[in-house]
This record gives sequence, structure tokens and C-alpha cells, in this order.
Amino acid sequence: MDIRIKSFEEYKAAYERSVSKPEKFWGDMAQEFIWKKPFDQVLDWEFESPSVKWFQGGQLNITENALDRWVSEDPNRVAFYWEPNDPKENAREISYKELHQEVCKAANALKAQGIEKGDVVCIYMPMIPELVVSVLACARIGAIHSVVFAGFSAKSLADRIQDASAKMLITTDAAKRGAKNIDLHAIWSEALRSCPSLESVLVKAWVNKDYQPGQKEWLWDELVSKQDVDCPAEVMNSEDELFILYTSGSTGKPKGVVHTCAGYMLYTAFSFQNVFQYQAGQVYWCTADVGWITGHSYIIYGPLLSGATSVMFEGVPSYPDAGRFWQVCDKYQVNAFYTAPTAIRSLMACGDDFVNHADLSSLKVLGTVGEPINEEAWHWYHKVVGKEKCAVVDTWWQTETGGIMISGLGDLSPSKPSYAGLPLPGIQPVILDKDGQEVTEAHVEGLLAIKFPWPSMLRTTWGDHERCRQVYFSAFKNHYFTGDGAKKDDQGLIRIIGRVDDVINVSGHRFGTAEIENAINAHPKVVESAVVGYPHDIKGQGIYAFVIGESGLGEEQKAEILSVVNKEIGPIAKPDKIQFVSGLPKTRSGKIMRRILRKIADGTAHELGDVSTLLDPEVVAEIRDNAL
Ligand code: WT7
Repeated sequence: MDIRIKSFEEYKAAYERSVSKPEKFWGDMAQEFIWKKPFDQVLDWEFESPSVKWFQGGQLNITENALDRWVSEDPNRVAFYWEPNDPKENAREISYKELHQEVCKAANALKAQGIEKGDVVCIYMPMIPELVVSVLACARIGAIHSVVFAGFSAKSLADRIQDASAKMLITTDAAKRGAKNIDLHAIWSEALRSCPSLESVLVKAWVNKDYQPGQKEWLWDELVSKQDVDCPAEVMNSEDELFILYTSGSTGKPKGVVHTCAGYMLYTAFSFQNVFQYQAGQVYWCTADVGWITGHSYIIYGPLLSGATSVMFEGVPSYPDAGRFWQVCDKYQVNAFYTAPTAIRSLMACGDDFVNHADLSSLKVLGTVGEPINEEAWHWYHKVVGKEKCAVVDTWWQTETGGIMISGLGDLSPSKPSYAGLPLPGIQPVILDKDGQEVTEAHVEGLLAIKFPWPSMLRTTWGDHERCRQVYFSAFKNHYFTGDGAKKDDQGLIRIIGRVDDVINVSGHRFGTAEIENAINAHPKVVESAVVGYPHDIKGQGIYAFVIGESGLGEEQKAEILSVVNKEIGPIAKPDKIQFVSGLPKTRSGKIMRRILRKIADGTAHELGDVSTLLDPEVVAEIRDNAL
């Protein structure tokens, strides 16, 4: 399959075609895939409700494009080099043929458990091959996968299982993470107490090989291994749901972003091959976890749909030492590497020696994703890791966009530190002022919106279409609103400033401030709380919590609050700073003025601006004087 653009001239021509004749552009591209039945119409859309339908009338199965296709072309090609958490344990090499067989066996096991097309299967697993197999097994039989990152708490897992009425859970007894093992069993068994919809649990015994299954539980090694290695691929309509992935917004509980089969397939393959300039025979490595969209689109679907060979890594960047990423790049002679600015910043802080001990001469493209990358980290990545010979691609996108929207294409495009760059073909971003007028001057900040559909956009939020309309399509008529601020330079390169809503981005993970506040408020001695993000050297943003509690709260209660957040959401949402306060700055109508709290948190409270609408200006002085 070749849907790769090979020069900047070609990019410009493709972009022009994708805007002037989008249906022709994507319709042609779609011919590169295997369809069970050709589509009748490329695109039917309106953003009012919203309703977006790509490739109507078409039928396909994404796994035929991701697996069967390559098995017939080159069965022994490596799909994954799986690298264990502990470098002393055995690595695995999984060919397309083996992956296909494992997926079919797992798919037959799901069927044996009564799972049918349209059922939701929740997957809560560490980064082991069975995670990829489980995801693709769902897709094989038309079950909708809902992967939950294995760092989320029992409460978060239960919320997600309940929201989607998942029928089955696929999980493990435990996860290996650096020097520690994490008892996943304790977490999911607690979650399941409040999940009556769940009919069965498929457990891969991973750490404790003698794990004994409980009620409603089946062991992977017993159930899957005895299945047939063939499983016909379910016939899916283009717009049938492929998966749900939960993500946080500025209000309420996390919502289930829904992606559908054909458009997602086309766009993840297209963006993967172009952004990474992936060519047959190369080795690619994305360090994300499959529990996030980056793992869905750029560990599983994009690379497999392109017949690529990837590294999949179970561990963490710091184990056994801060050289692990570079040792793994060296070991597999990785050509394209994709990670998060947080990881880059934390490894940068460990010094250059760890990098310099590895042979990184195979690297050609270095990608980043998840949060803005600061110039210092960009330069370190470019110079120390890339030896000034690699293209750095800063890829902007979201769970909702399904694939990379704004980014350089390997070394073809102009690139500039802290700028994501130009939109991919087919993507029509605009920067709007708050009244919805397009900002056309360079260097003027505005709100980032997209004015035309693209194949991998979200279709709805699970069980609540109105919420999808409200959150993404109501801010500006006929536009998808991203929630990010952005500006352009005079060449049209786009710089992402960050979220303009109450979403904070901690180490590339998204949280709603309200979500964290609700967790904190679950502590019996907490009366009210307000959470804001503040600049953090490694994490990008840290979490600063202002908490009103009963009088006399101290260090002990801070520790309890951290443990409550850990229990309600998970360790990644724990506040970095907790300040007990006697009141919060509120407007006369009772709204918390986060603008003020943000300034206090980032140490710029001397320039507070207009505080005349405050109910109680005294409180600001008290908070500021005691800021951490
Ligand atoms: C939010 C989406 C897309 C996979 C990982 C995160 C921020 C993402 C960049 C970037 C600046 C970025 C945005 C966006 N973001 N990539 N290259 N530069 N900011 O997915 O959890 O859905 O979060 O992450 O604020 O809205 P997500």
C-alpha cells in the first residue's frame, strides 16, 4: 500500500486537492484498502446535530486490512518486537501470521463466551501482546472495544464499564511496572462489585502464572489456546462502531468518544505513513500506552494497517535506568520513534550520557505528542537524540480527532520548535476569535476549530449524543471546536498554546478540573475545593489544589486527600500541591474565579487584573500570602 506523500511539492498539491475536492481525494485513497463491498457515497455530513458519515454503503473489516492482507503478502514479517519490562526477561518477536492466528483464537474465545457484534468488551491490561490481540479480536467479530488504561482506579474502571454496559472484561492478575508489580486483580475485582452488566472475565495470568480463576472468570491460557486459528472477519458497515475510548472534559464525568470503522481505518493508516514517512522494512516505536488514543491509533491500527514492524514496550523509561529508551532503540535499530514531551523532559534531566551510550544512528524521524513541547526539550531531542540529522515532528491531535491533524511529515515539511506545523491533507483548521470570526493575521492568538469533517473524527459520545453536540459543535456554528488555543506564523505554521477550557494536561494526560475536585471533595473533612494547572518543569502542568476543610487540617489530611484521589481516579491524577484555605475567590454569582487561582499557582499573583467583581477580596490576599 502506498499512500505516502514524498515531497513538500506533493504535499502542497495533495492539500490543495483535499480541500477543493475532498470526496475525490478520500475516495481515491480508500481504494487502497480491502472492502467486502464497495461504498456508494464518500461523505454525507452536517455539523448541526452533528451527523458525519464516511463511505456509506461500504462493508469491510479493519482486521482484514491490518492482518490478513499482510499474511498473504509476507506471513513472516514481524508485526511486533515485544520488549519486556525487565530487560533480563525474554523479548518476543511476533509475525503477522502469528498475530493473525492469536487474534482469531481470541476472537473465537470471545464468541464462545457469547460475545456478539455490537457488544461492548472492556479491556484493562498492561502492555503485553495479549492486549493488542484482545483489541483486534474484538474488531474481528464486531465487538466494540473499550480499553481502560491500567493505571485507573477501581472507581474509574467501574464507571467506564457501567457507562458502556460492557458484557465482558479482559484483564490480567497483575502488571509489571519498573521494579514493582501492580495488583490489578485487587482493582478490577473491587470494580466488578458494582458492575452487574458484566457477564464474564477473561484473565491472562501474567505475574502469578498459578492464578486461580474466581467466579465468572476464565483463564486466557485455557480458553484461548484451545480455539481454532481461523475466525471469519465479521462484515462491518463503514459507520459501525469500532471502539469507545473515555476521555476527560471540562465538566462532568469522562465521556466515551466513539470511533467507527472505515474512516478511522483510512485516516490512521494515511497519517501514520505520512507523518513518520514510514517505508517498508523500517522499524517504528511508539512508547505510548494502548490505554490512550495514541496507542490505539499509532501502536495498533495505523502501523498494522500499513504492514509496519513496530516495537511494543511493557516497561517505563526509567527502568532499570534512564537509558532504557535508547537501549531499546539501539537493540531494534529503530527508524522512527514517537514519545511524549514529558518523557523527553524527564530523560533530559538525567543527562546526555544515557543517550550517548546507545547507537542511535538508525533514527530518522522523532515524534512528540500529547502536550506542547518547550523549546529547550525540542532542541535536546533534536540535538542529543537525533544528532541534528532527524526530523522532529510535533504532532497535534486529540482522542476525538482519532488521528494526527497538524504535524510535519517527516523531513518534508518546514519545522520550527514549539510549532506543530501545517495541517495534514484533508484537515481544515481555522483560528477563531471568541465571536467566531476567523483570525487571519499571523501571531494573533485565537481558538482552534476545524471547519470540515475528516474521516477519523469522533461520531458521538457514547449514550449521549447531545453531549457531543454541546461540547464540540455548539461553540461555533458549523465548526468542530477543539478546546485549544492556537496561533499561526507568517508561513501558516500553527502553534498550539494549550487548553482554553477547564482541562489540564499533566504529563500528556487529560483531566477535567471538576473531576479532580469531585475526587478531593470525597474526603469527609473537605468542604470545597478548586483545582488549577500550573507550569511544571517535567509534567508540563502540575495540579494545584486549593482546599477548604474543617479547621486544623495538616500534613496528615493532605496524605489522605492524595489517597482519596488515588482511589477515585488513579495515581496519575494526584495533586502536586495542596493548600488549605479558608475561602475561595468567587464572583457575586458564586462562580470560582480560576483565573485568579491560576495566577496564584504560577506565582504571578502580583498582576491579578480586575478583581472588582469578587465577593470577598480579602480571601485572595490570604491565599496569595500562603501560596506554596
Ligand atoms: C489534548 C488532547 C493526541 C494524543 C494524546 C493526547 C494536547 C496533544 C499536542 C501537541 C500541544 C497537544 C491538546 C489537545 N495536545 N498534542 N503536539 N502540542 N498540545 O490526547 O488526551 O485527547 O488530549 O492534548 O491540548 O487538546 P488527548
